[in-house]
Amino acid sequence: MEGKESNKQVIDMSCVRDIVSKFADRDDPNLISVLQQAQDEYGYLPKSVLKEISSVMDIPLTRIFGVVTFYSQFTLTPRGRHSIKVCSGTACHVKGAEGVKQKLRDELQINEGETTPDYQFTLETVACIGTCFLAPVMMVDERYYGKLTADKTSDIVGTYSNKKLGSE
Ligand code: FES
Repeated sequence: MEGKESNKQVIDMSCVRDIVSKFADRDDPNLISVLQQAQDEYGYLPKSVLKEISSVMDIPLTRIFGVVTFYSQFTLTPRGRHSIKVCSGTACHVKGAEGVKQKLRDELQINEGETTPDYQFTLETVACIGTCFLAPVMMVDERYYGKLTADKTSDIVGTYSNKKLGSE
C-alpha cells in the first residue's frame, strides 16, 4: 500500500511495516520508538504513515496524534537536511541576534519555523542554549557558531549549501 500526501509525494509504506514488525514480538510494543524510527526513515511523520502505524499497531489515530504533538522531537512537516537554530535569549538579543536572523531570513527566503523549498534548511529560533559568552549564537545541526555577524552567518550557512547563498 502506498500513501499520498497533499503535495502528491508517494510514500512507500513497506518501511512502516518493517519498523513495526521489529517491535511485534514484544509484550508492549513501544509507540514512541516506532514513531522515532519512522521519523528517522521518512525525515518527518507524514499523516499517511501515522494512519498506517495506527492500523498495523491497532492504536487509535487520535492517540498517535496526541503523542506526536506532545513531544517536540516529532514533526508532521518535512524538515530541511540542515537545522539552523538561532538563539533568541537575552544575551544574544543584546549582542545582535536580530541581525543574524534577518540575514538568514533574507538569504534563505524563509521565516522562522519554515523550510526552504529545496529542503536544504529549516530555520528556527530557540531560547538560551547555554553559550552566552559566544553571543550571538546559532547552531547548524549539532554544531555551535558564536560571535556572529551578518557576513559571518552568511559564510557559515553557505558552507552547508550546495551553492553559495545569495548567488543565482
Ligand atoms: S542567550 Fe544566547 S546562548 Fe545564552
